Amino acid sequence: MEKSIKRIAVFTSGGDAPGMNAAIRAVVRTANYYDLHVFGINRGYEGMINGDLHRLDSRDVANIIHRGGTILKTARSERFKTPEGRRAAYEALQAYDIDACIAIGGDGTLTGAKIFCEEYPQIPFIGIPGTIDNDLFGTDYTIGYDTAVNTAVEAVDRIRDTADSHNRLFFIEVMGRNAGYIALSTAIGGGAEAVLLPEDKLNIEELVTRLNLGAKKKKLFSVVIVAEGFMEGGAQEVARLVNERFDYYDIKVTIIGHLQRGGSPSRLDRLIASRLGFSAVELLLKGERNIMVGIVKNEITGTSFEDAITKSKAVNDELIRMAEILAT
Ligand code: F6P
Repeated sequence: MEKSIKRIAVFTSGGDAPGMNAAIRAVVRTANYYDLHVFGINRGYEGMINGDLHRLDSRDVANIIHRGGTILKTARSERFKTPEGRRAAYEALQAYDIDACIAIGGDGTLTGAKIFCEEYPQIPFIGIPGTIDNDLFGTDYTIGYDTAVNTAVEAVDRIRDTADSHNRLFFIEVMGRNAGYIALSTAIGGGAEAVLLPEDKLNIEELVTRLNLGAKKKKLFSVVIVAEGFMEGGAQEVARLVNERFDYYDIKVTIIGHLQRGGSPSRLDRLIASRLGFSAVELLLKGERNIMVGIVKNEITGTSFEDAITKSKAVNDELIRMAEILAT
């Protein structure tokens, strides 16, 4: 018979994302409400392997909902990718008598959880999608995505001022690994001329054609968003390729980089993180196992780890079409 859940561990892993603290807070407070003991694991799977756990109470998560980063710290663990690392993690969880874990992170985190749960089904996991990339199947939003896009749009607004003053063409690179969500939303919100996505919807030649059209219409400056995972290269490389074919504007490059990962979470991220943290605990107590909790069409859903990490969540073609029309 399965052990009843009395002691749970929570951790954050992979890249940090604004809103992770709000999720930790929701997990701890919901668990305390149901009389569970909660342990925080420092530095994700690394801390699990090292047995770096400590008790967390409702008071320990006071005054963190508005803070970026993660109070539990995070890491990308190479050791957890090995059977020996996972064995050490299992033994550490057993030493603390942990009945279940709640993992907050992106696809690497959920991949680790999936493999661990196959090897050690005695300790069930629930995953919470926490990554600025928004690239997980089974949820419309991941924690941190909204804040990252707000930060990127604010950066674009500032760059527009200087681009306009100097009649320049700016290539602005945003994060997102192999997914184009941040790039597409930033392009729409920032009113960009074009967006270059990893999903390969627009290539350099087509971009140059579009820039030429803009030049003919006497557009005095331009901003193009480049997703870091764009096939033909990042913003520096795109600028070089465009410069060889087009000399209407002076060209500049800005890479927003890790600025997108920091800062106080937006209202939406705080709400999403609170709902996901709360639901993760409730689903666990209802007997759900080894799933990622998500929000689809504003409803809480559960998706197997396998589906969350392997099924693709395509960027919305209709939004790409709209962005093109609005840029004309
Ligand atoms: O997954 C989040 C993310 O910020 C990606 O957008 C980016 O490619 C990557 O992490 C950067 O990772 P690191 O902070 O380890 O350089």
